[in-house]
Amino acid sequence: MILEILEWCLTPASLRARTSGLLGEQIAIRHRALRCRSAWEGHLQASKAFLSRNLPQGRHVAVLGSGHLHDVDLEYLIERFQRVTLVDIAHPVDVRIRALCSGNKVKLFSGDLSGALHMENPDSPIVFERPLAHLLRSVDTLLSSCVLTQLALPLLKRWDGHFTDPEIALCASRIRQSHLSMLRSCPCGLLITDTARRYGQEAWAPLLADLDFPMAVEGWTWDIAPRNEHGLRDRGSEQRLVEAFVFRSQP
Ligand SMILES: C[S@@+](CC[C@H](N)C(=O)[O-])C[C@H]1O[C@@H](n2cnc3c(N)ncnc32)[C@H](O)[C@@H]1O
Repeated sequence: MILEILEWCLTPASLRARTSGLLGEQIAIRHRALRCRSAWEGHLQASKAFLSRNLPQGRHVAVLGSGHLHDVDLEYLIERFQRVTLVDIAHPVDVRIRALCSGNKVKLFSGDLSGALHMENPDSPIVFERPLAHLLRSVDTLLSSCVLTQLALPLLKRWDGHFTDPEIALCASRIRQSHLSMLRSCPCGLLITDTARRYGQEAWAPLLADLDFPMAVEGWTWDIAPRNEHGLRDRGSEQRLVEAFVFRSQP
């Protein structure tokens, strides 16, 4: 815990990244990944293998929600693209160093991918900052890995008790829809996302029933929190169903 607080203080990040709780979550993910290294191995390998089978060669790829790059092989992207832009609300120090050492091939973009962190209420419009909108228009490949189900979480926490559940759910769905539209409007969009969750041997609960997906290209389970992982108390282990999709817009 002390290490996490220290990292929170030392990681360069905007006020929004800090107050939304996203920086704290990003740091917590790194520590969980270390604790659950062997349980996560299959998921991380499956993600990288999907990308190596489906990523085209191109000019410019943006990785949405790049975080610690656990599930993306940065060297592989550097080989296949002239330019790689990592997009996240904050970038960990080790990722900053890798970008600095990339000979200008890897750029970092810090900003809100949900277009919603500024919202005062669930009816507010989704607005992407202009530099982000510009970046999204300039890439030929977009890659979104394990961020889709995270996008609405800061608002769910902030608005709990202030608005009705249906109002919040509708807004969360708009945020997810706009992320999918982003991927669909790029010449090539690759999406890896958790689509269902279960605790112990309970039935799978869908996480994205509001969205229309094409047929998944691949799917696997992710032991996101094995038994004894803290935070689960008496719920046993937690698994996610992960699915991977490819979107190609018509020329
Ligand atoms: C579950 S993590 C996955 C990260 C990455 N794929 C990895 O392997 O470390 C989700 C990432 O999305 C980022 N993220 C979540 N919501 C965001 C938002 N609204 N804007 C920008 N980044 C966001 C988080 O900071 C985090 O790094």
